[in-house]
Amino acid sequence: MKALTYRGPSTMRIVEKPEPRIEHPNDIVLRVTRTAICGSDLHLYHGLVPDTRVGTTFGHEFAGVVEEVGPSVTSLRKGDRVIVPFNIACGTCFYCERGLTSVCDNANPATDLLGACFGYSHMAGGYEGGQAEFVRVPYADVGPMKIPDDMHEEDVLFLTDILPTGYQAAEVGGIQEGETVCVFGAGPVGLMAMKCAWLMGAGRVIAVDRFDYRLEFARRWANAEPLNYEEEGGADVIRTLKRWTDGRGPDVCIDAAGLEASGSGLHTLLGMTMLQAGRATALTWAIQSVRRGGNVVIIGVYGPPWNLAPVGEAMNKGVTIRAAQCNVKRYLPRLLEHVRAGRLDPKGIITHRLPLEEGPEAYRIFARKEDECIKCVLLPAAA
Ligand SMILES: NC(=O)c1ccc[n+]([C@@H]2O[C@H](COP(=O)([O-])OP(=O)(O)OC[C@H]3O[C@@H](n4cnc5c(N)ncnc54)[C@H](O)[C@@H]3O)[C@@H](O)[C@H]2O)c1
Ligand SMILES: [Zn+2]
Ligand SMILES: [Zn+2]
Repeated sequence: MKALTYRGPSTMRIVEKPEPRIEHPNDIVLRVTRTAICGSDLHLYHGLVPDTRVGTTFGHEFAGVVEEVGPSVTSLRKGDRVIVPFNIACGTCFYCERGLTSVCDNANPATDLLGACFGYSHMAGGYEGGQAEFVRVPYADVGPMKIPDDMHEEDVLFLTDILPTGYQAAEVGGIQEGETVCVFGAGPVGLMAMKCAWLMGAGRVIAVDRFDYRLEFARRWANAEPLNYEEEGGADVIRTLKRWTDGRGPDVCIDAAGLEASGSGLHTLLGMTMLQAGRATALTWAIQSVRRGGNVVIIGVYGPPWNLAPVGEAMNKGVTIRAAQCNVKRYLPRLLEHVRAGRLDPKGIITHRLPLEEGPEAYRIFARKEDECIKCVLLPAAA
């Protein structure tokens, strides 16, 4: 089969790989029909995630048709159309029982630091990803959700990751009716968080980014007030946010940028010299701009071991910080309802649809934010 693989920093290539097989009784093999590129894939692509091996297939946002079914699988049959959450989870451990599928105890025995994820380095379990014609899906009775017959796979493709991630951010942000929510990062994840902030009763949503085309998209698509931090001179964005909010700052700030944030020379220097893991600039601005007693949510990804962030300021301002990889599975039923009812239309952010073979080009466009790219979806030929 054809698979998009990592060849080293900023280099992807299509190669022939053996088709995956059933390795465990609760596996399925899926013929991939849609597979997206996530901002998290860019951290791998840029060589920033430990133990990302050459030859790995990335991809944790995919939909497909069940091709083969392991003998113990009871909930799926050959031919079913499904989406698959990005977390790989056993469904029965201490954490899975509590809905915390992003930190499953069994799916990634390699480390206590994180759970397992499709196509996300050997640190996250070493599972092959879905940017290929076929993918093996373990714990098939736990993660996958059948796509309702009357729905197109693109209607629900982003329920695998970015929509529940944005939803979880808005939920744990504890937004009260009428409050002001500021989202740092107007990429796919930030956009979903903005939409979901409205669902949670926000009175005002502000989008911070440096790309005008993304800010304009956030204004149009998510009814957000745009704020370009580059035009503000970087950290001065904090002063502007306070000015816009009666001098106090937003009630809730969401970091949807993560470890590759720009905007601070100091963070960039520390990140480049490996004195910290990436650049926690958006997180710093979130803590510094949120009002006293407000909430900060970290959904942008950070890796070990540490990042420079103003903990003292958070402590003295009485800020509540919530952080997580998304526990996708728990959100699927209610998000399906929101999509059905037309309250959320996640496919509206797709700007690029390309054949899988053009995956290397899709990575380039998305990474460089060229061609007004928001979200790329790849279509394998076997689809
Ligand atoms: N927690 C989870 O479960 C989860 C799930 C999916 C993605 N993520 C993470 O969410 C983050 C965003 O993903 P995406 O797909 O939207 O990526 P993306 O690269 O398309 O978007 C990130 C945006 O952040 C902006 N940005 C950079 N520095 C900034 C700053 N200082 N302030 C404000 N904005 C800044 C960039 O210009 C860019 O538009 C990534 O770190 C990704 O790994 C987390
Ligand atoms: Zn992702
Ligand atoms: Zn588990």
